[in-house]
Amino acid sequence: MQLNPFHRDFLTTRRSRRFAEASKGLMHYQAVITHVVPKSNILKLCQKHGTDKGATNVKTHACGGLAGRNKVHHYAPFYDFLFAPKQFRVKNLLECGIGSTRDIDGSMAWASDAYKPGASLRMWRDYFPNAQIVGLDYDKHALFSEERIATYLVDQTDPASIAKFKAECDRTFDIIIDDGLHTPFAGITLFNNMIDRLAQDGVYVIEDLNPKALLSYRVFFTENPEYFVRFVTIPKGKINGEVREDALAVITKHY
Ligand SMILES: C[S@@+](CC[C@H](N)C(=O)[O-])C[C@H]1O[C@@H](n2cnc3c(N)ncnc32)[C@H](O)[C@@H]1O
Repeated sequence: MQLNPFHRDFLTTRRSRRFAEASKGLMHYQAVITHVVPKSNILKLCQKHGTDKGATNVKTHACGGLAGRNKVHHYAPFYDFLFAPKQFRVKNLLECGIGSTRDIDGSMAWASDAYKPGASLRMWRDYFPNAQIVGLDYDKHALFSEERIATYLVDQTDPASIAKFKAECDRTFDIIIDDGLHTPFAGITLFNNMIDRLAQDGVYVIEDLNPKALLSYRVFFTENPEYFVRFVTIPKGKINGEVREDALAVITKHY
């Protein structure tokens, strides 16, 4: 069988040693998702809107106008695997991290001029045709509103700021994605203050874990055993000669 480079790379990528220590003792999920289902349009949507979630080339890690950086991620095929069964049923999705391009912590300032704040929100809107999309960010310059997209000024490290948002927006979400500051403190603060707004059968995702963060989340979820957590690594090929992965936590309220 003739495999395109994407398939070939994914099939031959080995698990790197980066996460070996942090994931010791865990049942390890490694998502090796290939695009054998050409119907999925998630990568086209990532490309169209230029979010860094959907690299389309394992060699260059390019996505839309973003290219050649370890910072571009390979989440999109995994998201398609996770969300395709409920693509038409999702009514409300929240993402923390709209994509500020200003030079502030956790921003997209590294990206080229092709990047526009709200890239992933627009991708989600087009992927979930019946959903309202809510975006949160602590940079007021990243806020905007568009068809089926509303955004709010929220600092995910500040429970009072999250409470203010909840007072303004009474929705319950089918999907919550944390693509904000990416420190465990920020992630856990958002989780603790938003988990009551996740639907009973909803999915909560924390993106961009590094090995140290994974250890912090392991401690947190060990102390909070009522949630079900899967840590997933997604091979992204070699960067500077080293095998790298994207890693995320997928949390649900029950099996
Ligand atoms: C990686 S960018 C989001 C990219 C976007 N989701 C996409 O895929 O196109 C991370 C965002 O998190 C925001 N952020 C950083 N710290 C934050 C905080 N404490 N509270 C809320 N948002 C924060 C940044 O301003 C930036 O817009």
